[in-house]
Amino acid sequence: MKIAVLKERAAGETRVAATPETVKKFIALGTEVAVEKGAGADASIPDDAFAEAGASLGTAEATVKDADIVLGVQAPDLAQLKGAKPGAWVAALFDPFTKGEIVEAYAKAGFEALSMEFMPRITRAQSMDVLSSQSNLAGYKAVIHAADTFGRAFPMMMTAAGTVNAAKCFVMGVGVAGLQAIATAKRLGAQVSATDVRSATKEQIESLGAKAIFVEDVEGIEGEGSGGYATEMSDEYKAAQAKLVSEHIAKQDIVITTALIPGRKAPVLITDTQIATMKPGSVIFDLAVAQGGNVEGSKADAVVEKHGVKIIGYANTPAHLAADASALFARNHYNFLSAFWDKEASKPELDEEIGDAIRLTKGGEVVNERLKGA
Ligand code: NAI
Repeated sequence: MKIAVLKERAAGETRVAATPETVKKFIALGTEVAVEKGAGADASIPDDAFAEAGASLGTAEATVKDADIVLGVQAPDLAQLKGAKPGAWVAALFDPFTKGEIVEAYAKAGFEALSMEFMPRITRAQSMDVLSSQSNLAGYKAVIHAADTFGRAFPMMMTAAGTVNAAKCFVMGVGVAGLQAIATAKRLGAQVSATDVRSATKEQIESLGAKAIFVEDVEGIEGEGSGGYATEMSDEYKAAQAKLVSEHIAKQDIVITTALIPGRKAPVLITDTQIATMKPGSVIFDLAVAQGGNVEGSKADAVVEKHGVKIIGYANTPAHLAADASALFARNHYNFLSAFWDKEASKPELDEEIGDAIRLTKGGEVVNERLKGA
């Protein structure tokens, strides 16, 4: 069996889908690994390190030639897959709800597209879940970047020249990224509060030593849909949430927004009117900016200044921590494939629960149920 790892070609993508550690582990399973020259350069992994781990290094064409499995961070263009075996697997991020044409093209070309973002949220797939591994790092980076942009300090400091007050940091959306954002802001010494639509997060917020800000007066709303994800909220809830947030946000220095609803545009949580109530010099980091944004007016990879408030957000936050993000992404790939490894078979044998969830295309067709229903 041959596994191929190409250099990522998407703008701003610095990650790589394998590391010397995972190359070594794949080879120990009895497979051959080919890595495109320069694939790890942006993640500080030199070609020599891949070679020492046992990979063969070459051009993109040589890397992909006769490959059974191609690993990517983002799905490669079809042109790059020329020479791969018919029916080869490509495991990567496909962004399937917005990039339907790429999924169709993979089907037509006869490849089996495995969408790593569709990994089911079940206990045994946690170590294969790229959304979690990357969101965790993104939550950390959002706070660090916001702290760097903020013209004041995060911790309280008592100095001979007087006291510096602790920054007030509010985290909106307490999934994987939000929890890490709370923990990071706490470590930096900020006074942290957080909110979510899923009531289960209240306890998690409090266990990290932060204050939970919740809509209490709209009853019967759990906000939790399938797989632990959020659902779209009622208009009544949205109005109550907006009021609560408006009152709270006016007192905050830093706001980190992370709210996502799978397969839909991110919900707008902060309007221009609310931004206008914040103190000049405050900073908002919109982690959802690439999915449409939680903050009115936010722009990817730009600093937008409104009413004296700086609104920031990266198009691809994990790419700003290329080495760690690659290491975790590569382990997710390895944990996934090795769990189904079968030395006798020509490819791993995926079970139904995971295989059906992540497989987008097979035998020339789009086969994924979530996409058919989209
Ligand atoms: P996500 O990235 O889809 O969304 C981020 C957060 O935004 C979520 O907590 C969501 O409830 C919240 N949100 C959505 N709309 C909102 C609104 N209008 N206002 C405020 N907040 C809003 O979520 P993520 O980080 O992927 O995690 C969701 C859940 O799945 C978590 O409970 C997490 O622990 C669980 N999970 C389970 C895994 C497993 O069992 N394998 C793996 C990863 C996550």
